[in-house]
Amino acid sequence: MCGIVGYIGNRDAKDILLQGLEKLEYRGYDSAGIFVIDENKRSYLFKEQGRIAALRKVVDSTAAAASGIGHTRWATHGVPSIENAHPHQSANGRFTLVHNGVIENYQELKQTYLANTHLTSDTDTEIIVQLIAHLVEKNTVSTLEAFKETAALLRGSYALALIDKEQPEIIYAAKNKSPLLVGKGDGFNVICSDAMAMIQETNQFIELTDGEIVTLSRDTITIENQLNEVIEREAYTAEINLNDLDKGTYPYYMAKEMDEQPAVIRKIIQAYQNDEGVFELDKTILAKLIASDRIYIVACGTSYNAGWVGKQLLEKLTHIPTEVHLSSEFGHNMPLLTKKPFFIFLSQSGETADSRQVLVKVNEMGHPSLTLTNVAGSTLSREAEFTLLLHAGPEIAVASTKAYTAQIAVLAILAEVAGKETGLVVQDSIGHDLGIVASGMESILSEKHQIEQMAADYLSISRNAFYIGRGVDYYVAMEASLKLKEVSYVQTEGFAAGELKHGTIALIEEGTPVIAVITDEGIAGHTRGNVQEVQARGANTMVFSMEGLEQLGDQFILPKVNPLLTPLVSVVPTQLLAYYTSLQRGNDVDKPRNLAKSVTVE
Ligand code: F6R
Repeated sequence: MCGIVGYIGNRDAKDILLQGLEKLEYRGYDSAGIFVIDENKRSYLFKEQGRIAALRKVVDSTAAAASGIGHTRWATHGVPSIENAHPHQSANGRFTLVHNGVIENYQELKQTYLANTHLTSDTDTEIIVQLIAHLVEKNTVSTLEAFKETAALLRGSYALALIDKEQPEIIYAAKNKSPLLVGKGDGFNVICSDAMAMIQETNQFIELTDGEIVTLSRDTITIENQLNEVIEREAYTAEINLNDLDKGTYPYYMAKEMDEQPAVIRKIIQAYQNDEGVFELDKTILAKLIASDRIYIVACGTSYNAGWVGKQLLEKLTHIPTEVHLSSEFGHNMPLLTKKPFFIFLSQSGETADSRQVLVKVNEMGHPSLTLTNVAGSTLSREAEFTLLLHAGPEIAVASTKAYTAQIAVLAILAEVAGKETGLVVQDSIGHDLGIVASGMESILSEKHQIEQMAADYLSISRNAFYIGRGVDYYVAMEASLKLKEVSYVQTEGFAAGELKHGTIALIEEGTPVIAVITDEGIAGHTRGNVQEVQARGANTMVFSMEGLEQLGDQFILPKVNPLLTPLVSVVPTQLLAYYTSLQRGNDVDKPRNLAKSVTVE
């Protein structure tokens, strides 16, 4: 989704901005642009549709300037085009602005203040920069005052960076709901929507909170709140290893990240075990969790799918009823809550706007909340009462793989430790069992060529497909289908195996691929029956079954693991199947069309 970078210092800003934007490419975008200005007020604006590589081609190599702002755009208002790409400029050319987020009242602002202004784009962003220019011209206020006044008029989400041509030595920034960080350097300062973008420049970042306004020069950072009070805030050190951002010898990030899963599981075990090899979590989290009468897991997409596995783990090991909800639904249509709810937010990025709006409401209601996230210091981590980190390392491919398995592993640890507190769990086993899972994942990954062949045989030219399963295998079917559709564009449904015959079986025709996941002994026979039903109607079936439950003709045998942890292994061949199908169809597997990594609009 949209990304912002800004630099003010003494080096060539355009190179730093372009590099920064390249680091944000993984978030998904459809156009990009940069604006740079030198101390003599000579300025340059470059925008292009498509990839940063295309933007690089239109950037004039002689455009040397030591400050600037840049942006990757994921279209919300107006199609992807050069006109709609950021940065946007005021009609008088004095102000240049980039924006992440969505301005809900932009039509209203346009009518009230800008009826006579000629607009050149369809974006809500252009309204902001024109409004700043309008306030400066009409009210003869300073740029900072106009910026503050404009920010106060905006309804919605925004991270903003502004340059006034009359003050090339300053960048103004503001934020509300959308993420924005200030990076501190020696003789320079930066801004960015994600620390990853500027980690090659500095690892010292200052978090901003909603409503704050920043004035940045190469040597100073001034943060003001809405009451115009100056805020002093220490920088934190972003723990991002530059090597983690590199694909290494892998052709794609998704391939690398799938392969990293066994190591991530081992890292999680280490991170949460004490010196005696016993899992240890913050006692306050545990006390609040076990005092609750219901756990509400709130998340989107892949994290939501991981939430269903978490429900199973928490209910089995703690006996606390657990519900799983889509963030985008929950916030606007909240179910009747129990008296003592405990909220768990699952979010790889920690920045998902849909989940954040629920967290804001949960905080207002005063309920305890825990975020499981991969990004320390992310918005959902800062704003929840507690955080547990996933320790998965940066996930760059848009399609989430290692974060899904990391979420389940951390939820398993949480469930076991909470279960011990309640007295339900008497013997530790998850640590040992996760170790077996890691080895099982390795053995599946070593057979990836087999899955590559299956993708060619079953899915490379198919129009649609189904994943089916029961119980926890159904939860994996949901994630497997999301993965396949998002990277291969094969229309895929993840279905409760027994439910197919109640309507959806009408879609099965000669050759329809149906993949069954079977890991649960108690219901294996039933799922096998459903496989027969679709086979009888012409489906091209594939069965992924767990060792001990396999039958002759099954396509892939999964290594045996603790029945509570089977999704951690059964999901791996489905990730590989999605990956190879995508490649065989000639898609960009790391950057599927229309998708963004960090979804920062609701
Ligand atoms: C799919 C995928 C998305 C995310 C979803 C939530 O592969 O990555 O479905 O899971 O957008 O994102 P987070 O977990 O960052 O809140």
